[in-house]
Amino acid sequence: MSESTPLVTGVIVVAAGSGQRLGYGMPKAAVPLGGEPILMHALRGIVASGVASQVCVVLPAGDEGLRRLCGDFREELADGGPLLTLVDGGATRADSVRAGMAALMEGTDAVLVHDAARALTPESVFHRVAEALAAGAAAVIPVLPVVDTVKTVAATSGEDSMFAPEVVTGTARREELRAVQTPQGFKLDTLVQAHRAAGGLDRQQSAAVTDDAMLVEMLGTPVYAVRGSTQSLKITTPLDLIFAEGLLEGPLGARWVEG
Ligand code: CTP
Ligand code: MG
Repeated sequence: MSESTPLVTGVIVVAAGSGQRLGYGMPKAAVPLGGEPILMHALRGIVASGVASQVCVVLPAGDEGLRRLCGDFREELADGGPLLTLVDGGATRADSVRAGMAALMEGTDAVLVHDAARALTPESVFHRVAEALAAGAAAVIPVLPVVDTVKTVAATSGEDSMFAPEVVTGTARREELRAVQTPQGFKLDTLVQAHRAAGGLDRQQSAAVTDDAMLVEMLGTPVYAVRGSTQSLKITTPLDLIFAEGLLEGPLGARWVEG
């Protein structure tokens, strides 16, 4: 890889989801974790990592509470800290990412796309992704080995359905599998090109796109993988929120940081 060059990096924090599976009746970004909204933990982690020249927060359209929260956080940021930009999100995560990209400042070289739902991502993960970009990668994702055995299944039919609703069709080679996290890092022109190409997908194909790296893979551009962190769990269900609370307040306490 080539020698590292400093990159002007924008971090897009997608926080415009409704949090259906968490089931709090409010956007997930606003749900309290350790006494503060989930979004605040994510923002503090990004700023503390020092990788961002700009943090572009994508919020649920019309959510005044989260807007105010971000406005207050902007006041807290020291002079010389990143520019904080707020934009309205879209109907899908990909729409929200595109809204964030449109608000990046001129001169941006690289972009990290991060889920607000990964509120406790350690700084070290931001650093590993940013360093790979600086070293010349066009696309980088943080990953973890998969601990469960993973199988493929199909729906049963006819007599088979008397036993169970699904039948196993195969077993994936676990040593080749990785669970994928955020922040996902890209050279800005690579991500722009990938999302432009996504415009040509039909509704079914679009629904199958669950991260940005997948769109880059479709371009044929290599996507590199660096080590993620178990602490970077995505808060999706009530159980995840219990885990996250435990990381902050449990026996391990806030001192525990898995690098
Ligand atoms: N997201 C977004 N815009 C959307 C949908 C999702 O910005 N239209 C963001 C979420 O806010 C979250 C991240 O993408 O930070 C990952 O999505 P997910 O965990 O699925 O969050 P929600 O969509 O809010 O949750 P759910 O699917 O349970 O409703
Ligand atoms: Mg969702």
